[in-house]
Amino acid sequence: MVKIVGIVGSPRNDGNTSFLVKKALKAAESVGVDTEFINIGSMDLQPCIACDICKSTGECAIYDDMQSIIEKIFIADGIIIGSPVYFGSMTSQTKMFMDRTRPLRTDFKLKDKIGGAITVGGARNGGQETTCAAIHHFMLIHDMVVVGDGEPMAHYGGTGKGGAKGETENDKFGVDSSVNLGKRIAEMAKRINP
Ligand SMILES: Cc1cc2nc3c(=O)[nH]c(=O)nc-3n(C[C@H](O)[C@H](O)[C@H](O)COP(=O)(O)O)c2cc1C
Repeated sequence: MVKIVGIVGSPRNDGNTSFLVKKALKAAESVGVDTEFINIGSMDLQPCIACDICKSTGECAIYDDMQSIIEKIFIADGIIIGSPVYFGSMTSQTKMFMDRTRPLRTDFKLKDKIGGAITVGGARNGGQETTCAAIHHFMLIHDMVVVGDGEPMAHYGGTGKGGAKGETENDKFGVDSSVNLGKRIAEMAKRINP
């Protein structure tokens, strides 16, 4: 069965970004795919140390929770990355995860996986779109296929207004755009893996 993994890089358990990524995964399930949710914010992740060992072995020399995350995204057909907006871009947890996926890029193991972004800022225009774009750049550099939230709005993906825990639940635009992203990723992942 086609599988979509949703990864959240928030230090908060059950924060606004987790809420929207779970909404997207639920919507993806309604299209007939399997899903898995991971919040890397509470996991043991160390930053890349640029030892370059992955360039020759295809494996990371740091042993922490990243190995289990890599296994999950390697077998996924679609990947949603959700990040809170911190100073107009992604959280350090999200970036740390991204840098540590370099072993997968040595032979483009994420090629043709469908990718999309969900971002949440405390302000309406606090950097959701710039953060989505930064996530899209990561996906393009892995040779993934990037999608947005599709019709009827067809913009950057899920973009929510959060702040205190739970606030995004009242943000209709954030919920709708995330649900549409979830459906779009699932539909495209099924189309590419018939
Ligand atoms: C260090 C820090 C920087 C932040 N920078 C921004 C920002 O640039 N723009 C914005 O709209 N919100 C900003 N916020 C607010 C968070 O994006 C907002 O609280 C969001 O809901 C957090 O998502 P979460 O609940 O999933 O952790 C910042 C919060 C923190 C802690």
